[in-house]
Amino acid sequence: MSIPCDILVFGGTGDLALHKLLPALYHLHRERRLHSDVRIIALARSLHERKAYQALAERHCRAQVAKADFTEEAWAEFAQRLEYLSIDASQSGDFGRLAKLLGKNEERVRVYYLATAPNLFEDIASHLNIAGLAGPKTRIVLEKPIGHSLESAQAINAAIGAVFDEHRVFRIDHYLGKETVQNLMALRFANVLFEPVWRAAHIDHVQISVCETLGVENRGGYYDHSGAMRDMIQNHLLQLLCLVAMEAPVRFDAESVRNEKVKVLEALIPISGQDVRDKTVRGQYSAGKIGGQDVPAYYFEKNVDNDSDTETFVAVQAEIGNWRWAGVPFYLRTGKRLAKKTSEILIQFKSVPHQLFGEGDANSLLIRLQPEERISLRLMAKNPGKGMRLEPVELDLNLAAAFSKQRRWDAYERLLLDVIEGDSTLFMRRDEVEAAWQWIDPIIKGWQQHYQRPRPYPAGSNGPEQLQHLLERHGREWME
Ligand code: BG6
Repeated sequence: MSIPCDILVFGGTGDLALHKLLPALYHLHRERRLHSDVRIIALARSLHERKAYQALAERHCRAQVAKADFTEEAWAEFAQRLEYLSIDASQSGDFGRLAKLLGKNEERVRVYYLATAPNLFEDIASHLNIAGLAGPKTRIVLEKPIGHSLESAQAINAAIGAVFDEHRVFRIDHYLGKETVQNLMALRFANVLFEPVWRAAHIDHVQISVCETLGVENRGGYYDHSGAMRDMIQNHLLQLLCLVAMEAPVRFDAESVRNEKVKVLEALIPISGQDVRDKTVRGQYSAGKIGGQDVPAYYFEKNVDNDSDTETFVAVQAEIGNWRWAGVPFYLRTGKRLAKKTSEILIQFKSVPHQLFGEGDANSLLIRLQPEERISLRLMAKNPGKGMRLEPVELDLNLAAAFSKQRRWDAYERLLLDVIEGDSTLFMRRDEVEAAWQWIDPIIKGWQQHYQRPRPYPAGSNGPEQLQHLLERHGREWME
């Protein structure tokens, strides 16, 4: 389905717009997935002429898009769609000029993508409304994090909700647009094999790891007020946890899927007081080496306070209080400037109830989202030759190779198309975001109360030493 529409990107000169949104729109254009009547209007404060903005966008798209996919011809066509308007989003008066540019057309679909800091969300929604630009065909896309606490998220949700009905609000979490994340649902709900063992009786624990080698790049100003807990755990890792833990929805539609996810979030057992010390690890990178290059400590990064106690690493032991998952720890970890970039989910099964062949490993299922998309099931097999010597072997599915004829879509491509088509299945509903904050807030408060400073870890390592204790005390270990 392809619909004529206007896509307006607030924060049009920011990293997200230039590194992710425009390249994604370029791909959609090149593969003829955008209607010929789709206009893209970038909005920002800096004074750019349209031509200058197109040149800026071209520079970034050339750098982001694979060489084979970038052609002069496709770019020239794409640039025709690209307009620029300089406005100050905090000034109501500037929206009059936007209204003039858009013209009166209540029937036209308009997507407002707020790729700005969350403190502008409320202003932008209200100014759109006052300028008569929030009619029934308009949609608003909010980038995470929605606020920095439950209270601030509620305030943002209420202000947005006063202008846009919930079905027109798209709270984006780009992890939900990743192929392997959607494959996790396919794996669980389109195959009969896993469901009978997908529960506390057979699963020992789950590990969800999102490890990055990058530091905070140009985002020190934002990150230093956010930290890994708000930047990653509150959204990406909790969304992955939901997809692992949720019950099968009755239908694959926005309400059914999100109803099931919210139940998981509401069942998370609160972590507060002494538990914060026992069940969480905070870290901050110190100087080290990544890929042979020296990198500075976090507090020397641009726009970061040099006495900062913001965490760049978090590990948490989460538990879900329901029949399916009682007693199964979900270990979450994420960090910047770690040894390797990987995002993966490990489902560690329990051992067989009676060991016929002596001590053996238990089965595990590894779902790797990045760098390669892979699902591998670890089984025990007999080593050839005499005797029953067993060894673990992998049943390995490389998803990129299995679908090698198709280009792998970037998460933003899929999600932008969903917004244009009005499908919010892969977006976070208001109650989901708030339930996630409800669980996160007491942990952050616990850190502040006990003045739990982050533990240093050298850039290029696997995180702070204390990370190991979180699992070792239960006789478990992190996957490498
Ligand atoms: C973003 C975070 O949401 O996700 C970044 O704000 C992080 O700090 C990024 O680097 C990771 O995304 P990906 O797709 O590279 O794993």
